[in-house]
Amino acid sequence: MSFNFKLSFPTFNGNELAYTRQAIQSGMLATSGEFIDRFEEKFNKRLKTHQIVALNSGTSALHLALVLLGVGKGDEVLCQSFTFCASANPVIYLGAKPIFIDSEKDTWNISPELLEDAILNRLANGKKPKAIVLVHLFGMPAKMNEILAIAKKYQIPVLEDAAEAVGSEYNDQLCGSLAEIGIFSFNGNKILSAGGGGALVSNSTAVIQKAKYLSTQAREDLPYYQHLEIGYNYKMNNLSAAIGLAQLEQLEGFIAKRRQINSTYRELFSNLPGVSFQNELAESRSNFWLTAILIDDQITGFSNDQLRVSFMKNGIESRFLWKPLHLQPVYREIQFFGGTVSQSLFQKGICLPSSSDLTYDDQERIVEIVYKELAKTF
Ligand SMILES: Cc1ncc(COP(=O)(O)O)c(C=O)c1O
Repeated sequence: MSFNFKLSFPTFNGNELAYTRQAIQSGMLATSGEFIDRFEEKFNKRLKTHQIVALNSGTSALHLALVLLGVGKGDEVLCQSFTFCASANPVIYLGAKPIFIDSEKDTWNISPELLEDAILNRLANGKKPKAIVLVHLFGMPAKMNEILAIAKKYQIPVLEDAAEAVGSEYNDQLCGSLAEIGIFSFNGNKILSAGGGGALVSNSTAVIQKAKYLSTQAREDLPYYQHLEIGYNYKMNNLSAAIGLAQLEQLEGFIAKRRQINSTYRELFSNLPGVSFQNELAESRSNFWLTAILIDDQITGFSNDQLRVSFMKNGIESRFLWKPLHLQPVYREIQFFGGTVSQSLFQKGICLPSSSDLTYDDQERIVEIVYKELAKTF
């Protein structure tokens, strides 16, 4: 189905065509080349204490990050439940076990209190978790001060899944670069799209070097192919990097636009009781990759699903929030710490069109559908 207003459609108004033409003309389309170097260099300038390795997806970046944290068979990893499956699936790839933690109500991200409960429970069972995987959902930074204090107290490394939070900040520092290791996604629907792509970020030069080595099949620096370890084909290619670089040049503009879209939705919904948003903390600056709302049907008289259907009939793309991983059939055996916060977010939430090229008039037309839904209830 084609939509007039899409959830998150990439905007290619910069140097994308010029750079991809240059990459093709150079004949360098593989996993080394000018644009990969330029993309990494430009990103590194924005990272204060960390460095980046450009990879071919956010999922491969998560997998590699877990490998670098030493996660292996039988280990336990504490994971945010309210997220896309890619945040936790790589734990399974490694034969380790995710343990899911519920969200808190402000940012919708991992609850620091429940995280500590889970750590204490696992320690009491003689099992120290190998890592904590948290997510900055829809671009909204998690409660990092609290989470990092807990991680430090129990000496457990943190992996930030900033797949959706490219350019978001917490305490004036880029999300993804607040802990030992972080990842980004640059897939087709992200705020910075390289077609497909991802990255790993770390404050340890040793980790960065090892990530580069493992992501290119663990090839030794010799005139012939020699391998001492099992590696992966996870590096970004030069063509994706050409698109990524052009997008990176426009990132601040994309963020400003999506923040504007979020504040316009807040303004247009301000007279509609029963509609609420994620809370941006004072120390946070979300990229607002997606604006999502919660609909309390006891107040509005209509549900998120009724709205989804009306949107669809009017050519407007919308999407439910992530179904928590602890409720996914594939993860039914997995231990969960929490209550019904993420479940209720899933039951009430809907993501609204948030593409960077959305205009004020477009948003008015989208919000009008919500008011029409309200009118049906009278
Ligand atoms: C929270 C989260 N983690 C991980 C990923 C995986 O990224 P990719 O699609 O680049 O593999 C995504 C997005 O797709 C995501 O939204």
